[in-house]
Amino acid sequence: MTLPTTAERRLPEWEFGGYPYGLMPLTLPAPGLRWLCGDMSGVLRQQSLLDADADAPLDPEPDSTDQLLWFRWIIGNQASSALWQLLDDELGLVLGEELPTACRNAAALLDGYSALLIYAGVPTREAYARLIRPAMALQHRSFSGRWAVDYVPVMAKLQALRAAYRSRPAPAEVARTIEASRTNHRVHVAVAAKLVPSDDSLLRANDGLALGKATDENVALYDAFYSTARAVTSRERVVEQLLQRVRAIKRDLRVNGLYPDGSPSQDERPAHLWETKVENVEVRVEELLHKAATAAVAALRSHPASS
Ligand code: HEM
Repeated sequence: MTLPTTAERRLPEWEFGGYPYGLMPLTLPAPGLRWLCGDMSGVLRQQSLLDADADAPLDPEPDSTDQLLWFRWIIGNQASSALWQLLDDELGLVLGEELPTACRNAAALLDGYSALLIYAGVPTREAYARLIRPAMALQHRSFSGRWAVDYVPVMAKLQALRAAYRSRPAPAEVARTIEASRTNHRVHVAVAAKLVPSDDSLLRANDGLALGKATDENVALYDAFYSTARAVTSRERVVEQLLQRVRAIKRDLRVNGLYPDGSPSQDERPAHLWETKVENVEVRVEELLHKAATAAVAALRSHPASS
């Protein structure tokens, strides 16, 4: 009998955060600071583990439903931030050159973001109102997604893209990207209404939209809440961190399913907003996340030079 090497023995272990449903800090560069270091080893390792995980023994169940929901909220938001940085690059290429590969990558990343919204939005209204919303409100009474600094350039590019093709037909690949962005908007609206039926975000409930701009101060508060540090970080490392999170999410979903026993919030989905396009994301969460991870690696390879 051959003894497995240390690396082989470690394969099935839950790597992210050191223990199942543990969390890890995320390190991102300031948005727009793209730097390719040329070292793909971390990315390739995570990519092969993403496939190997499918054969790993099932992980233990979480200690409590709250632990699971908190894990999902933080990791889902962290993965979104990493994903937005990559999406921003691809949208730049879609806008500038209508590059078909960039269109496909951007659409897959947008679909991955839609899947993350559904995944993080699994708490029941009761759990969201008791566990998650008050924690954000303690960070700032108007805590808002508008303070997600990595989303700011993405939102601008999505608006520019829609405007560019308002009066002329978009090529098929570009149209697919725009469609993924529309679906993403619908998913955000549906998840928000599922968790907060009054539609009152903390921002709207407290300071109106007065604090809706991403200033240095509220960006720092937002980053701190999601354990996100800002440092010079290569694009490879951004992709590696996204893949680590997609792996942990997929391992969670294998054990707990999308709607875990202790959180039957599928009964709270607003029927009028949970239309076919939203449902199509919901039933494909794992697949869409896997595709987004693959697109993130592909996007890295299609940017040979640093800028
Ligand atoms: C699942 C995690 C979520 C993520 C990643 C997320 C992300 C974002 C982002 C990036 C924005 C700024 C861009 C924009 O205005 O479209 C935003 C805004 C907004 N989000 Fe979310 N969101 C999430 C959950 C929610 C929930 C649960 C609600 C329920 C109230 C909500 C309600 C809103 C509203 C109303 C805005 C507009 C600005 C504001 O009033 O704060 N979102 N979100």
